Amino acid sequence: MDVFTAIRRRRSIREFTGEEIPPEDIEKILDAARYAPSPENMQMVRYIVIREDKDFKRFMADLCQEAAQELFGMYPYELAQGRLWYIPEEKRPSIFKRMRDGTLFRYPEKADTIVIGFSSEVFQDSPLIYPHELFGSVVIGMAFQNMWLAATALGYGVGYQAFPAMDPRRAEVVCEALGVPRSWKPIGALHIGVPKRPRMAGPSRFPMEGMFYAERWGNPYIRLAFRGRRW
Ligand SMILES: Cc1cc2nc3c(=O)[nH]c(=O)nc-3n(C[C@H](O)[C@H](O)[C@H](O)COP(=O)(O)O)c2cc1C
Repeated sequence: MDVFTAIRRRRSIREFTGEEIPPEDIEKILDAARYAPSPENMQMVRYIVIREDKDFKRFMADLCQEAAQELFGMYPYELAQGRLWYIPEEKRPSIFKRMRDGTLFRYPEKADTIVIGFSSEVFQDSPLIYPHELFGSVVIGMAFQNMWLAATALGYGVGYQAFPAMDPRRAEVVCEALGVPRSWKPIGALHIGVPKRPRMAGPSRFPMEGMFYAERWGNPYIRLAFRGRRW
């Protein structure tokens, strides 16, 4: 699969069959993370790969469900459906129900592999702090995307969970369970598995003209195909 196809086919997969993935494929996916760029090639990131520990996977599912209930549970549908603008209207109520009760986010349970990414901002002998927001989380983001695209190209599904890292209290519990030292911060968790069903059509994205500005802020970048047209 070429890189442009993988970029377009990549989706968030939140339903896995629970089937096992051959370890060689998982290793290929993990290896893709090593090639992510980092400032001064510091590679100030580490990953914990969980495949065997079913109790931990269940714990992650509980944690994500609880966090989703806390986040989405208080929203009335009339307001929250604005967030779901990209989902066809008839599907919104059932998806919203699964967001509210958190069951949509239990997928770590059935993932073959969970990869949790950590970064450090006091790495090597630099006299400056390299803040997580500007450096470590960017490196993890790039590495996760590498793995996401590699998994997509191999026909597997991937789902990203921010919940284990989002609330400092939950992050603390995760680090405690995994023996992570204080100077390392969890950034996010990637879940790789065999998708229950394909998700081909992606949620719509803003058009180029809405997202890119040409030369100055607010001046829409006009796609080549639309240039010179009269509206
Ligand atoms: C930084 C970040 C955090 C995300 N957090 C979550 C999450 O906690 N749970 C989840 O199921 N999906 C999460 N996602 C996935 C997004 O919901 C998803 O990428 C978006 O809706 C677009 O859908 P697509 O990935 O299928 O194209 C996250 C994605 C990113 C990049």
